[in-house]
Amino acid sequence: MRAAVLNSIPGRLDIEDVEIGEPGPREVLVRTVAAGLCHSDLHFMEGKYQFPCPAVLGHESAGVVEAVGSMVQYVQPGDHVITCLSAFCGHCSQCTDGHLTLCENKGTELVRQPGEAPRLSRAGGEVVNQYLHLSSFAEMMLIHEHALVKIDADMPFDKAALIGCGVTTGLGAVFRTARVAPGETVAVIGCGGIGLSAIQGARIAGANKIIAVDTNPSKLELAQQLGATHMVNAASADPIGAVKDLTGGGVHHSFEAVGMKVTAEQAYQMLRNGGQATVIGMIPVGTKVEVEGSDLLYEKKLTGSNMGSNQFRTDMPRYVDMYLDGRLHLDEMVSKTITLDQINDGFDDMKAGNVARSVIVFD
Ligand SMILES: NC(=O)c1ccc[n+]([C@@H]2O[C@H](COP(=O)([O-])OP(=O)(O)OC[C@H]3O[C@@H](n4cnc5c(N)ncnc54)[C@H](O)[C@@H]3O)[C@@H](O)[C@H]2O)c1
Ligand SMILES: [Zn+2]
Ligand SMILES: [Zn+2]
Repeated sequence: MRAAVLNSIPGRLDIEDVEIGEPGPREVLVRTVAAGLCHSDLHFMEGKYQFPCPAVLGHESAGVVEAVGSMVQYVQPGDHVITCLSAFCGHCSQCTDGHLTLCENKGTELVRQPGEAPRLSRAGGEVVNQYLHLSSFAEMMLIHEHALVKIDADMPFDKAALIGCGVTTGLGAVFRTARVAPGETVAVIGCGGIGLSAIQGARIAGANKIIAVDTNPSKLELAQQLGATHMVNAASADPIGAVKDLTGGGVHHSFEAVGMKVTAEQAYQMLRNGGQATVIGMIPVGTKVEVEGSDLLYEKKLTGSNMGSNQFRTDMPRYVDMYLDGRLHLDEMVSKTITLDQINDGFDDMKAGNVARSVIVFD
């Protein structure tokens, strides 16, 4: 099958032929129909996070089940599914406590064991590493049955793919991590696929003021279409001062969806007393985030969110319904559909800030 392979870091992706195995007892073979480009893939390509090469990247996808392993009961060939990197074992202390994204057995039970044939390889046998349990930039995915959820066949695949990461991360950060209450005030720093989803989450949760912060005017325009009530261009205004002015002293909730020290610190500094900053962006490994110690006296909180603290088998079908009944706007978030061969251009568009999301649609 054809796949986009990261062979060196930093590096671009090479389209190559990659071999894919047969499903083991608890594995599912999925034909990838659509795969979104998320900034997290770019962080790995740029070396801000490490992953062993060669690897097939991609982690935001939807497709059709082609074949299932002998013990799989949940899905059958023909089912439409969204994949999720938050693969869970279902029996560790985090899973049984409801924190599936923090599963303790991700790296051991949900992958092929030492001595077993790899899921992905090159002709000749060289292992090609599977990325975040998925490797979606490929015509097929061979994944653990706990890395997918069945969805309504009416859901268009390109929009379904977005739910696989960006939408679930942004909505989940609002609904599950921060638990925004109706009437509260929200600021979202960074209005790419993740931040726009957080803005939609805040709108659906019934937040009063929803302040979008970005350096790119076209992103702010889109943020307004999707539910932001106020826009702050951080290229020309101080976002902390602007948010404090708009809210009479600070927001109940801020969300950082960029992945930088400066924006994470801004998120904390724009809180009202007792407020909570939720950092979604992937801040480069080794970077420290600083807060004013005395602010802790006023119960200002700083936390992270992993994939929106999701319980994806519950959440994703709900988000599909929200799209199908018109409350969650995803058409506006698919800026471009591209082919697998155009993947590097897609990441160039992301770097240039031209798109909310590019989505690869396979033939
Ligand atoms: N925590 C998680 O589980 C999780 C999941 C998915 C993605 N992420 C991370 O979320 C972040 C956002 O991802 P994305 O795909 O939406 O990225 P993106 O590139 O589509 O969007 C980033 C946005 O930030 C804006 N921006 C850049 N610098 C800014 C600044 N100084 N102030 C305000 N805005 C600024 C850009 O203009 C752009 O609109 C990334 O760091 C990604 O790795 C985290
Ligand atoms: Zn992602
Ligand atoms: Zn677990």
